[in-house]
Amino acid sequence: MKLKKEELLEQLKEEIKKHPKGQKDLIEVLHKTQELFGYIPQEAISLISKELGVYRSVIYGVITFYHFFTLQPPSKYNVKVCLGTACYVKGADKILNTLKRELNVELEQTTEDGLFKIQGARCLGACGLAPVMMVDEEVYGKLTEDKVIQIINEYREKASEEVK
Ligand code: FES
Repeated sequence: MKLKKEELLEQLKEEIKKHPKGQKDLIEVLHKTQELFGYIPQEAISLISKELGVYRSVIYGVITFYHFFTLQPPSKYNVKVCLGTACYVKGADKILNTLKRELNVELEQTTEDGLFKIQGARCLGACGLAPVMMVDEEVYGKLTEDKVIQIINEYREKASEEVK
């Protein structure tokens, strides 16, 4: 059973108590946080700051310094847009902008509904199909702006079917 955020925060609070105040064990506590939530939520940062007596700015500094920490929740689907040369020449920037607009996120951000995260890629190895994107392991080529929206809507439908 998936625990609620409040319950996870309680667990984190207990975990923090095992560590001395100050920055000494901050990285360890952040690892534990990411293990519990799958990412590092704002509420956890506030809690760590309060319990360890470390400034939020210091915590952010550590999170952004180490690439294995993430402030973004994991998404159900990962969308990779190819920004390699072949795709770029065929309009990859339009594909990316359409995704950003449709999903209301920037690169590396997770949508509010938790369904999608968009990432840029160098070359997805399907240059003949440019412009290309992938949703998880599925490759979509010869994209147009309309086709991108259609694909996203298909995944939205698929996700809502799963909930029913
Ligand atoms: S450049 Fe896009 S698939 Fe190769």
